[in-house]
Amino acid sequence: MNKISAAACAAIMLISTAHAQRPDPLAPTGRWTAYSGGRAATPPMGWNSWNAFASAVDEEKVMGSAKRIVDSGLASKGYRYINLDDGWAAQRRESDGRLIIRADKFPSTAKRNQKTPSFKPYTDKLHAMGLKAGIYSDMGRNTCAQAWSATDDDLPKGSVAEREVGLHDFIDQDIALYFREWGFDYIKVDGCGLRDFGPNSPKVKAGQARALTPIMDLGAISRTDVTAVQELFRRVSAAIERSRPDGDFVYSLCIWGAANVRAWAKDVGNTSRTSDDISPVWGRLLVNYDSAVHRALYAHPGSWNDPDMLYIGAGDFDADHLTEARSHFSLWAMLNAPLLIGADLRKTPDALMDVLGNADIISLNQDIAGNQSTVVYDSSDLQILLKTLSNGDKAVAIFNRGSGAQDVSLQAAQMKYRDDAPVEMIDLWTKKPIVFTKDTKLHVAPRETLIFRARGTRALSDGLYLSEQPGKVNPAVDGVTRPIADPTIFRTAAGWGGTHGAGDRPQYAGWGGARADSAPYGQTLQIARKTYSSGIGILANSRLEVRNEGYRRFAAKVGVDDSATDKTNPVVFTVYGDGKRLTEIRPLTWGMPAEPVEVDVSGVKLIELVARSAATENEALSVTWGEASLRGR
Ligand code: GLA
Repeated sequence: MNKISAAACAAIMLISTAHAQRPDPLAPTGRWTAYSGGRAATPPMGWNSWNAFASAVDEEKVMGSAKRIVDSGLASKGYRYINLDDGWAAQRRESDGRLIIRADKFPSTAKRNQKTPSFKPYTDKLHAMGLKAGIYSDMGRNTCAQAWSATDDDLPKGSVAEREVGLHDFIDQDIALYFREWGFDYIKVDGCGLRDFGPNSPKVKAGQARALTPIMDLGAISRTDVTAVQELFRRVSAAIERSRPDGDFVYSLCIWGAANVRAWAKDVGNTSRTSDDISPVWGRLLVNYDSAVHRALYAHPGSWNDPDMLYIGAGDFDADHLTEARSHFSLWAMLNAPLLIGADLRKTPDALMDVLGNADIISLNQDIAGNQSTVVYDSSDLQILLKTLSNGDKAVAIFNRGSGAQDVSLQAAQMKYRDDAPVEMIDLWTKKPIVFTKDTKLHVAPRETLIFRARGTRALSDGLYLSEQPGKVNPAVDGVTRPIADPTIFRTAAGWGGTHGAGDRPQYAGWGGARADSAPYGQTLQIARKTYSSGIGILANSRLEVRNEGYRRFAAKVGVDDSATDKTNPVVFTVYGDGKRLTEIRPLTWGMPAEPVEVDVSGVKLIELVARSAATENEALSVTWGEASLRGR
């Protein structure tokens, strides 16, 4: 008995020492911590080989599309990165671990009278065309095609070790090869190697691959080692920075929303896939779009949500489906998604080239303010997205997800404009102007997205709500302690397994993350029965970083949100400026009226908003920074 309690005591002491040593994640840092390395101040634009060619890719196919990008004028509109996806690798040489290219498919790589093929002539050629070059690898030992391809034709050949073309045990060597020696400017790092090569996987059983205990499971966050996955992706990030000290790179994470990456990729790389692969099917577009649309606060200049490449040119998005193709393009522009064309451009009809080349819509995606659109009207069939642009204009998109036409009344107030002053809008597809006061009636065809650039009189005359500038708001700590699947993502009938099994179940973690103009679980922001159409909803024990570019005041109305089920634990709201405490609000519990916060932030570059509680169940304690805004410039 004595022995047991001594052991228990020692354990408790160990735990409390560990606690004492762990830095307080809510302590202000005075620093913007979202990733800002690389060249992704605006979302990357370009082309990728996968959707058109899968692993049957070759140099002629890539260069054919690259040439059309230049010749058609798409390059001058910003399409720059020509990205080679899975299928280029022949094997890893056993003697020195060097990666060998499939020179029969990429003839220029064999030219230089060398025994070992090199991609340098290939990247030189793209650079000479004014383009940038991208390459593909996997975080594990093997790639996705190696896990999933039905045939062996385009896969690496040789011994098990020779087939290990992934980064896992070769991070520094491979990254230096790609960026320093071969001259690539962009890397997509996939994740099948971390999940598909367990001892029972078919490829392992067939003796074609070495077993690697899976540390990631897209279907079960509880069977995923989030820290280990993060650690590997951070190591790649550091290796790229060492190989490209001038910062001329793009680092694209591709783990499809697994490992709760929708919450942390913003700290590690430039773009991150929020869902599994897109396919040229309407229902699948909805899945991918939904995986990013409520995550505006997790995207910033330098770190973008990636709902996957464009599938314009195939299936539901081909030239016979221009409504769907235009919707796809409009939505990806509003989401600040990377605009990576997935079509064989040698054969793409002009009508689709015109969709991809709509400069007015590209300029929304490439706007330097870097604000992903937020959802200002939300239903299963219809959504209205709003995006604040750097010159003060707004972009607004009205998306009809369903199969019936919709008559919509768009309100000036939804656009955060005064409803007694005119709003002027231009339809970015038809170029027709519309002028209205208070509201306007619009007809939206099935699957159509109307998209406008607008100008009106701002309801908040002397500043901007934080929810209008998500690109400058970083939920450094969002309070989610036990990530669970997000039930709001569309679940398509055409899932990967067809209709086998139990259907397309919710699988992307991130439910309860921070939201613009919404409580963390989707309710209207509300404190003591008063609703707020603008504000930030987040869980307790959270810290938001806010960039301040010259505003003099921060104002908000704070409190525990009515949606919280924890009605007892108080929350303390504190505002910091460049690491120093500016103000603290007395502890507030559920049901207490909102408390106004008003602080001078003149000269402050980084504001931090901390909501702290002794509660351990943050998930039950949503808080609201109602009407949070920066004022007076
Ligand atoms: C995964 C990725 C795709 C593509 C393939 C290549 O499925 O999500 O985008 O890169 O692997 O095998």
